[in-house]
Order: sequence, then C-alpha cells, then structure tokens
Amino acid sequence: EWPEKVTIKEVGPRDGLQNESVEVPLQDKVAWINLLSDAGYSYIEFSSFVHPKWIPQLKDAKEVAAMISRKKGITYAALVPNRKGLEGAIDTDVDEVSVFMSASDTHNKKNINKSIEETYPILKEVVQEAKLEGKSVRGYVSTVFGCPYEGAIDTDQVARVSERLLDMGIDELSLGDTIGVANPRQVDQALHEWKQWLPFDKLAMHFHNTRGMALSNVLVSMQHNITTFDASLGGLGGCPYAKGASGNLATDDLVHMLHQMGIETGIDEEKLKEAAVYIQRVLNKSLPSHQMQVVNKE
Ligand code: HMG
Ligand code: MG
Repeated sequence: EWPEKVTIKEVGPRDGLQNESVEVPLQDKVAWINLLSDAGYSYIEFSSFVHPKWIPQLKDAKEVAAMISRKKGITYAALVPNRKGLEGAIDTDVDEVSVFMSASDTHNKKNINKSIEETYPILKEVVQEAKLEGKSVRGYVSTVFGCPYEGAIDTDQVARVSERLLDMGIDELSLGDTIGVANPRQVDQALHEWKQWLPFDKLAMHFHNTRGMALSNVLVSMQHNITTFDASLGGLGGCPYAKGASGNLATDDLVHMLHQMGIETGIDEEKLKEAAVYIQRVLNKSLPSHQMQVVNKE
C-alpha cells in the first residue's frame, strides 16, 4: 500500500544553506525562496534565528523574513534554539517555529552548547511562549540513527527525547538522520518500535543522503504510513556541528520518485527545476541531486 499524497517540507533555505561557507547575498536568498513559493510547496523553512557566530550564513533571517513574498497556503517556518531566537521569529511574524535537539548528548553540546537535560527547560519555555503567540511548533530530534561522536543511538533514547518534546505540546515531530547513516532495515525496525511510543500522525522523517540511502529510507517509512518528509532542493545541506554531515535528501529526487510512483506532492517539477538552477548558479557549483546531474548534462 502506498499513500496517495505526500507532504514535502522544504528545508533548503535553512538546512541547505547553513552548511555553505560562501555567503549567499540576501537578495538571492529572497529570490530563491520566492521561486520555491511558486513551486507548489505547502511548507518552507526559510532560515533560523540562531547565534550569527554559530551559523554566519543565516544571520540575515530577519531581513529574509521581511523581504520574501509570502503566499497564502504556505507555512513559513524558522528554526529557533531558545527564547532569544523565538523573539526574532515572533518579531518577523513567522507562521511556525521549529525547536531542535539531539538524541545524542555529545552532538547536542556541540550544536547548541547544552546537555540534553539542560535543553529541556529551554525548549519547554519556547514551546509555551510560541503557543501563547499563536504559533505552531515543530520539534526536531537529530542523530536518531547514529551520531558522529557517540556512534549507535538506542531507539529507546530517541523515544524518550521525542516523548519529552511531545509532552511540551509540539505539533509535529521530525526525526533526523543527521549524518545519513540509516539503512532501510534499521529504519523499518526502529519504526516498528517507535510505533508503540509515538503518534505517527504527527511524525515526519528527515533523511540525509550521505551514503545514498535516503530514498530507500523514505520508501520504508511510507510502508509505515508516514507521509511527511523533509527535503532540501538539489540535495544541499548538512549540519556544520556534525562531522561528516552532508547532503540532505534532495527534494527534486524525492518529487521525481513520488510522481513516477503516482503519488501526489502538489509540487510542479518544472518550477522546482527553475528554483534549483537558480540556487546552483548563485552557489557556483553543481548541486548533488540526481535530477540536477541530469539537468547539467542537457
Ligand atoms: P551559547 O553561546 O551557549 O549562548 O550558544 P548563551 O545562551 O550562553 O548566550 C551567549 C550570547 O549569545 C549572548 O549574547 C546571547 O544573547 C546570544 P551576549 O550577551 O554575549 O552578547 N544568543 C543569541 N544570539 C542570537 N540568536 C540567538 C541567541 N541565543 C543566545 N538565538 C546557542 C547557544 C543555542 C545560541 C548556539 O549554540 C547556537 O546558535 N547554535 C545553533 C547551531 C545550529 O544552528 N546548528 C544547526 C541546526 S541543527 C541541525 O542541523 C539538525 C537538523 O537539521 C535536523 C537534522 O538534520 O537531523 C534540525
Ligand atoms: Mg538536516
């Protein structure tokens, strides 16, 4: 059984660009996000309100938020690590905020400078405040299939961290294979276990394609009735605080596969290509997705 429709959440402007060392001009970010808005997405994570020293590329989140043309029907979301980040997100009237933490204590410290235990009260406050402001909240858990510092991560540990976030009142949980180590059998087994703990109607999967297994992992997840996936156009991305993290699952590859399978996404492949070609030109390097490799040979 395959789903009729899948929701794709575009994280390229955030997860994609955060790992790019060459500064992308504000005007180009805005133009790119506007092209994405025209491509048929229902959700775009456009930036993050984190410390500019930690992620210099996204230091213009406020300007981006103010300058993009927001389209009706699209949720514009931003990543926030703490109260200060939330303030920025609220000032610019984002639709949704995403809080994030890691299932691995070491990665959590490297990424947000706090232990897992220290992170809970910070995120709890952010979720409460965001809700008071009428914002929906997404919660990411990263390194759920493996950590670059700690190695294997217990499925129980992922369930515990996820439950804490769900108890805070998050609307959606996104489980991330931050360094792209998951294999399809592992995803299958983990989802079997998590089914007993976690509400799958609130679950999204966030795969990275570091070792070429992201699409296979999507297929397995769809067999577990998961129909929301994060992806980054052209396969841009990675976490600068996870050694070896590279390429997110490429939106264009995911859309192509789903459409070939007769599964709807609402996304226009031609417009997607236009947006991918645009950001490829800005970054001045060929994007890693299979679709873009085809385009680049045309
Ligand atoms: P810290 O140094 O521990 O912060 O960094 P602090 O709370 O001690 O404050 C120190 C200073 O930072 C203060 O300023 C604060 O005001 C300021 P001062 O008083 O010294 O002038 N500050 C901020 N400034 C701007 N924006 C803020 C903010 N917060 C405090 N939000 C902090 C802690 C969380 C800020 C830092 O570690 C950080 O920004 N980390 C973000 C790293 C990041 O974005 N990583 C990538 C995203 S996560 C990911 O990629 C995984 C995911 O994609 C899923 C997957 O792939 O699996 C989601
Ligand atoms: Mg990611």
